[in-house]
Amino acid sequence: MPSLDLATYPLERLADQVGTPFYLYDAAELRRRLGDLAAVTEGPQLQARYAMKANSNWKVLEAVRAAGLWIDAVSGNEVLRARRAGFAMGAKPPVVMLTADVLRDNALTVVLEHGVLPNVGSAGMIDELHGAGYAGPIAVRVNPGFGHGHVQSCDTGGPSSKHGIWYQALAQLRARGAAAKLPVVALHAHLGTGPRIEEFDENLRRFVGMAAAMLKEFPAVEAVNLGGGIPHPYRPGAPKYDFGGFRTLLLEAAAELARAAGRPIRVEIEPGRYPIAAAGLLVCRVKDLKETQSNAKGPGHKFIMVDAGFNDLVRPAMYGSYHHISIVGRGAARTPEPQVVAGPLCESGDVFTRDDKELLDPRPLPRPDVGDLLVLHDAGAYGASMSSNYVSIGRAPQVFWDDGKATLVSRRESLDDVMRMECDERL
Ligand SMILES: Cc1ncc(COP(=O)(O)O)c(C=O)c1O
Repeated sequence: MPSLDLATYPLERLADQVGTPFYLYDAAELRRRLGDLAAVTEGPQLQARYAMKANSNWKVLEAVRAAGLWIDAVSGNEVLRARRAGFAMGAKPPVVMLTADVLRDNALTVVLEHGVLPNVGSAGMIDELHGAGYAGPIAVRVNPGFGHGHVQSCDTGGPSSKHGIWYQALAQLRARGAAAKLPVVALHAHLGTGPRIEEFDENLRRFVGMAAAMLKEFPAVEAVNLGGGIPHPYRPGAPKYDFGGFRTLLLEAAAELARAAGRPIRVEIEPGRYPIAAAGLLVCRVKDLKETQSNAKGPGHKFIMVDAGFNDLVRPAMYGSYHHISIVGRGAARTPEPQVVAGPLCESGDVFTRDDKELLDPRPLPRPDVGDLLVLHDAGAYGASMSSNYVSIGRAPQVFWDDGKATLVSRRESLDDVMRMECDERL
């Protein structure tokens, strides 16, 4: 079942104050989960980074820093947000790593100016860094030939994955790194959750074995990073990941890698989803109810029309991801019946109850009243951070719930915000 008890929060009051839809993050749940990560990586040879792409709100970053986690960023601006949140730049060992498939916008400048560790995914990126005058250490993201996200379209490793450098091309990359005098201080792979829960551990062990064999050729390596992807039970009844077993796996990995290298090797993980997914809710309002009738084209459906769309939470539209749904209001007690929850956008994919083949997946839910609240659970990760202002709708506000008090930590994007970049400059 979802971790958060909705009765804890004055959702109607908050909805009145900030409007719907809005995100709500529970600080206690976030801290508890960050504590799990700190505990599982306790000791000198283990370290957790937070993959801040999951949620880069300043309040979340503040909690991450307080828990002693380091950062994995994907863009120059993410690095700068981490800097503003107080993470040390240019630290040794590197507190902030930048893992990007392509260095765009200010990423290169930020690496040069702030001394974050660039995690390169190709020999070309080494040339780009070297050409720009970079003369520091690098990490190497490896595509080990296997790995899988939670759904088919999330391709984290293998011949069809764009991430990292193909493991058989590592010798070429090593030569380029040596020529450019950029020592490789970390090996990295993000293998993903895997559709089966067992796959996560299996893949991590497999990569550790591979990294152990690589270490001889990378004498400057100090760390092996196993990426993120800790499985999260989005569906009620889905198996929970075994953290006790995870700690054993990480300690065994550190021992195996140290044996292979003949020196201590730090083992890093970089989850994004684990600390914040379950700590976040997307709260929206039921605006309308309608239905279609069966005909030759297919069965009819009952629709619940809400004011949140894939501009607010794109995971169901992008991956067919499951988010548990609750109704809050007069309809909540009704007998569940299969229904489709859909948003305001003129896009047929603007539906929160979809499967991973992009088909409608009606969900047993109580038929709400118009005006009830509808809550999408486990929305803290890749929710606000992936939201957009498509059709000029402003991004939803974010509220932080801590010790019985609510704080607005990101206000609703206004029309002026949306239009701020428009200009009339002759080039
Ligand atoms: C390189 C890298 N590290 C870490 C993560 C975090 O994964 P998760 O949020 O599933 O833990 C991702 C997710 O896309 C990633 O690409």
